[in-house]
Amino acid sequence: MCESVVPTFIPHRDHIMGFEQYHEPAHELSSETRTFARMIASLTEEAEAIGWYEQRISLEQDRQAKAIMQNAQKEEMKHFGMDLEFLLRRKPLWRATLEGILFTTGDIVEHGDEAEEAAG
Ligand SMILES: [Fe+2]
Repeated sequence: MCESVVPTFIPHRDHIMGFEQYHEPAHELSSETRTFARMIASLTEEAEAIGWYEQRISLEQDRQAKAIMQNAQKEEMKHFGMDLEFLLRRKPLWRATLEGILFTTGDIVEHGDEAEEAAG
């Protein structure tokens, strides 16, 4: 999240950012798994921010305010993409599946089913 821009966007942020992101005892998890959990939490927060900006932008009447929020939303999408890429570099099977879905045209569900089948 761009905390300087959207600090109030995250209800229960302290709750999420503390230890609640773990569903297993944190001390039993590897460093890699804890990092993975943090990145999943970050991905979720970026997605939420993108959605919140979408709603605010749709209602905003001030042209400049709208442009600023559109710029911020674009940043959140970039952060979402970086989070996703981080995760995909650690999960080759996920990458193989998403390669069959992302940046394609045509029926998304069909591509998803085919990609899942092809990835194994
Ligand atoms: Fe962000």
